Amino acid sequence: MSRDKSCCGVCSRGLYSCHWTKSSTNNKNHACLWFLVVTVLTLLSLCWLYTSLVMFNDRDDVNCKLFTILKHWVNWFMVVIIISAVLSSYCVLLLMFALIQVVLGEKLDLHSLHKFFLFLGVIFVASVVIGISVKWPQEWPTVPLSLQATAPFLQFGAVVALTLLSPFVFRGFHVATKGSKFLIAVVFLLVAAAIFLSPLLIQSPCLIDLENLPEKPKLIGHRGAPMLAPENTMMSFNKSIECGVTAFETDVQLSKDRIPFLMHDHESEFLLRTTDAQQFFNQTFTHSNNLTWEELMHLNAGEWFLEKDPYHTVSLLSDEEKTNAKDQTIPSLHQLLDLAKQHSVSVIFDIYNTTDNDNNDAVDIVKTISDSGINPRLILWLPPQGREYVNMKFPGFVQVYSSKSQMHAKNGSHLNVKYSALSTNEIRELRRENVTVNLWVVNERWLFSLLWCAGASSVTTNSCHLLKDVAQPDWVLAPHKYKTIWILVDIASVVTMIGLYILGRKSRCFGQTEEIHRNGTEAWNERELSPFLST
Ligand SMILES: *[C@@H]1O[C@H](CO)[C@@H](O)[C@H](O)[C@H]1NC(C)=O
Ligand SMILES: *[C@@H]1O[C@H](CO)[C@@H](O)[C@H](O)[C@H]1NC(C)=O
Repeated sequence: MSRDKSCCGVCSRGLYSCHWTKSSTNNKNHACLWFLVVTVLTLLSLCWLYTSLVMFNDRDDVNCKLFTILKHWVNWFMVVIIISAVLSSYCVLLLMFALIQVVLGEKLDLHSLHKFFLFLGVIFVASVVIGISVKWPQEWPTVPLSLQATAPFLQFGAVVALTLLSPFVFRGFHVATKGSKFLIAVVFLLVAAAIFLSPLLIQSPCLIDLENLPEKPKLIGHRGAPMLAPENTMMSFNKSIECGVTAFETDVQLSKDRIPFLMHDHESEFLLRTTDAQQFFNQTFTHSNNLTWEELMHLNAGEWFLEKDPYHTVSLLSDEEKTNAKDQTIPSLHQLLDLAKQHSVSVIFDIYNTTDNDNNDAVDIVKTISDSGINPRLILWLPPQGREYVNMKFPGFVQVYSSKSQMHAKNGSHLNVKYSALSTNEIRELRRENVTVNLWVVNERWLFSLLWCAGASSVTTNSCHLLKDVAQPDWVLAPHKYKTIWILVDIASVVTMIGLYILGRKSRCFGQTEEIHRNGTEAWNERELSPFLST
């Protein structure tokens, strides 16, 4: 009975099956099946946690999309990450308890409450996965892309996990019947071969010699520096200059009196998220031409930032900066062009809330640009609206395209696409053809590192204050060096497992006495059936 009472054994059994005092005697509980379910769900929840962590780069898109639907700002993405982390930890713990019981020779009997929680977990993951597939299918390519940054480390992790778990498999193998022995051996060898040889399939732009590493991508401030100041305000653009950005990214709309101003949200969200228009006018607007510039310029465009703290970065601001942020208003395009001219920074923008005749909007906007006296080479013309007109009237502007096919059709040499729209090989190929490739929106260090290895010319980012300090990609490894490392790791693992297997065989004598002991325990339990165990 000593084993029955060991703290570890009691705890794991109690937490897994709620049998605190004695082992389970329930024989009809499909214990093996539930063990399998826990194992599969643990793997799934870890995969999901990984997915949500790599999608963290795009958290702002998700939160904004949900704002569009719910008209209420909540950091939903953080909520999803927290639930996913709790769920994965829970599954991993359950699996650990189960393995401890297997080692101690206890019977497995998953408590119904755990079954219920696992069911809730499955519902949660399934609904989020369906939600993403329906609303943001463009998010999925981030996952395979991220593997180019993480695969070598995941492989090392898998080798370690396989080595650590192998004693359990060998134990099962030693006690199995002949048929099951064969099955266990085949499955184990297949899984091991897949893990050991997977580096043959791993491709990463960061597997290069250091001397071939391209130049660090330039930074473009996405609506300025939206983590350090309210987006699309002069404070935000000034902050991005401190990060050394080479271009401002912004969004232009036209007021009732045809003054171009800077605001991203449009249509039903117009002015709702980033200004106090609703309190100010006590009504909602759906179009930029609902208001004159005089009316727009008096709205507050900074208080929301301090209130909602959309990136959890407000604490980084000094008191002075907070006061400054609180006083921000909507800037006109003219104000931004003055700043750009002064610092020789480029400007790239989208046009929103266009009227039916969009060329008119482009005409009014380029008039403002030419009146500002800015060097035309600093204007990166992205909007499809009025491209022909602009190209004819202002050939000095740089024409930037949002897809490879458009760019090739127009013989262009500047591309601006989502970071996952091109494979890293395509980025390399385009750079070889001297195409300037800008990728949006890159906020996380791992993604920036990967695109740096691939040779991106520049990235649009929310976090220029972090990326400006990245002096090297997270990792760069010469291909032959990586090959040596993974082969050595594989060999070390094989040798260790062979050792464990031989040790396992040697201790079979001990294992047999153990079995006799366990049979004794079970017999004892059957005689002493307590009422607590009847379920
Ligand atoms: C805003 O403009 C749109 C389109 O021009 C119009 O349909 C709508 O009625 C206007 N709303 C207000 C409040 O003026
Ligand atoms: C790209 O530019 C470099 C240097 O300006 C030049 O030597 C090379 O020939 C160009 N490549 C192509 C494909 O145009």
